[in-house]
Parts: sequence; C-alpha cells; structure tokens
Amino acid sequence: MKYLHRSLLALILGVVIVSLLGFCKEANKKKEMEKHAFGKTADGTPVELYTLTNANGLEAKITNYGGIVVSLLVPDRDGKPGDVVLGYETLEEYIENNPYFGTLVGRYGNRIARGKFTLEGIEYTLAQNDGENHLHGGPKGFDKVVWKADAVRSKNSVGLKLTYLSKDGEEGYPGNLSVTVVYTLTNDNELKIEYTAVTDKVTIVNLTHHGYFNLAGAGLGDILGHELMIKADRFTPVDKGLIPTGELRSVKGTPMDFTRAVAIGARIDQAAGQLVLGGGYDHNWVLNNGDGSLALAAKVYEPTTGRVMEVYTTEPGIQFYSGNFLDGSITGKGGKVYEYRYGFCLETQHFPDSPNKSDFPSTVLKPGETYTTTTIYTFSVK
Ligand code: BGC
Repeated sequence: MKYLHRSLLALILGVVIVSLLGFCKEANKKKEMEKHAFGKTADGTPVELYTLTNANGLEAKITNYGGIVVSLLVPDRDGKPGDVVLGYETLEEYIENNPYFGTLVGRYGNRIARGKFTLEGIEYTLAQNDGENHLHGGPKGFDKVVWKADAVRSKNSVGLKLTYLSKDGEEGYPGNLSVTVVYTLTNDNELKIEYTAVTDKVTIVNLTHHGYFNLAGAGLGDILGHELMIKADRFTPVDKGLIPTGELRSVKGTPMDFTRAVAIGARIDQAAGQLVLGGGYDHNWVLNNGDGSLALAAKVYEPTTGRVMEVYTTEPGIQFYSGNFLDGSITGKGGKVYEYRYGFCLETQHFPDSPNKSDFPSTVLKPGETYTTTTIYTFSVK
C-alpha cells in the first residue's frame, strides 16, 4: 500500500513536471512568434499578422496577405529600435492602395514588354498594367493573394512558411505553379527569404520581395543620405518604358557606379540619360556574382543612426529603385506621410523582360524542375 502511494505520488509529480515544461515551451514559442487577426479580404477570407522576434530584439511583423512585411524593428547604434520599412497599419489600406510596400512579387517581378512572351512556340498575353507593359505579375499578382501560413522553428531562428497555388492561366501565365516562400528571422539579425516553386507546364518565374527601406526610420525623411554599394560592374540600361534595351552596360564613369559606397543622392538628379528615364534610380544591376551561389549583392549605411543593411542573394540581378513615384499622397504607419524618395527598394531578381531577351539568364521553369532562390537582408550598426 505504502509503495502504491509512493508510485502514485511520483506519477502525479511526473505529470505536473512534464506539463510545466510543456507550458514553458509554449510560452517561449509565443514570445518568438505571435499570431493575431489582421482583418478580412473583400470575399471574407481571414488574414493574419504574425510577429517574429529574435534574441537581439529584432522584430518583424508579416501578414499572409501578399506576404507583406508590415514592420521591421531594428536597433540603431544606441540600441534604440526603429521601424525601417514603409507600410500601413491596417489590411484595408494595403488592399486599397499599395505601391508594393513590403510585398512578395510574382509570378514575374518587374516588367515584361507589352505583356507578351513566347514559350515553346505559344504566345502568351498578360495584362498591360504599367502603360503598355506588364508589371510585377499583373493586376492581381502574388502581392494581393492570401497565402497559407505555417510557423517553422529551429534552434536559432523563427520562421513563417507561406504557400500559394497559382492556377494554370492565372493572370495569363501558363501552368499550375506551386510556390513556397519561407521568411526566417535568425539570431544573427538576418531576415532570410527562401523561394521555391514547381510547375506542371512550362512557364516563367521571377519572384522577389519589394520592401521599401529607410534605415533612418520609415517616414522620417528621404533616403538620399544613405550610402549605397552595389557589387555590380554593369547594369541593364532601359528605354522610356523602363524595359531593358538588352545591353549590359559598364557602370564605369557614370552615376550608376556604386562599386564603392556613395550617397544615393550624390548624383541622382541628372539632366539627361538613364536617370531621366527612371526619374531617378529604377534599374537592374548585373551582379558580379552570376553563378547562383549566395553572395553579397549590396550594402547600405545610414550615417545618422549607424544602421547597416547588407543584401545577399543567389540571384543574378538587383533592382535598385529610389522611391521616385512616392509623392506625399500616401500616409503610412503612425500618420507619417511618405514624400518623394522616402524609401528605397533593393529587389533581388532575374533581369526585367528576360522572357523576351534570349541573352539574359533564363526565367523558364519546366515540369520536373524546382525553382529555388535565396535572399538575405542582414542588419548591424557602425
Ligand atoms: C519598379 C518601379 C515601380 C515600383 C513600384 C519597382 O520594382 O522598378 O518602376 O514603380 O517597383 O511598383
């Protein structure tokens, strides 16, 4: 009887300890990743907002509507956190008018001339949603769809896995395309984005992330004082519709040369040439590392806060866009107005209009192949 009591006591104690451990683990998980309702789309689909936190106080809020990074809190050189991405506070505002703040972009990041391309002898026609050209996947690209979201955890990071099935014919693109994007916030202060996709028909894919950064803090000023380095000796010059001419032109001796860090605003306003066509910087740079391995592509330093962002990618190109279409008509988070050039984008990608440029690296994806690319934005201070 005495033994029975003891075993019973031990059993109860055991159960209590295991439950307590479980509770602590849950509480810990909760700290790293929180999930809240973020509203509903017009057809009633519920949308969530996930908060990812790392061990050093970096915090990313990401919604499964468009895979948008809604906010990204990064400490400055005094340890003071600031939100370094432009965006809105509510889902409604993102749905109503979003110039791609923080979104995922697909099926095809940037422009396809006149929305036309030919694959295996078949001509496909996409929407002309940017003058006569097709931009960022069309009127309802991956930035405007609700992704399925699942938490992914490992020892040194917290992540969000987003999946989406883009049906055959969606926005005019051929093939059922099954897409997975994993956002991971690591304890090394990296926001890592891993993209994969498979198709059941030959198609084209070029996925990217369209964060508008301002390392001094979103809405607190323009980005002209940020010092930028891009590891590229060449860029792809464009025509007046911002379609590449096909040439890979040397940056040497031009305002496109960012091989050494230069303030974004130092040479941005030119009377003629490529910067006039883009209304500032809105071009694709041909990264020196073109072999598909993960390599440093760009580095940005903001002198007043000391924040540094580095961009690593497996992609051959990067679109540097200096926020030339921002004009003060948008009021974002915290009631801050986004004026001209208040944010910049560094969109890792294959080159614009590649489906019509046989000399550019191919964006064709065939059944049986897997599209995989990785981009990492890392944060530090100087
Ligand atoms: C494009 C710009 C465009 C911006 C917002 C960038 O990727 O290159 O021309 O205005 O996205 O759509």
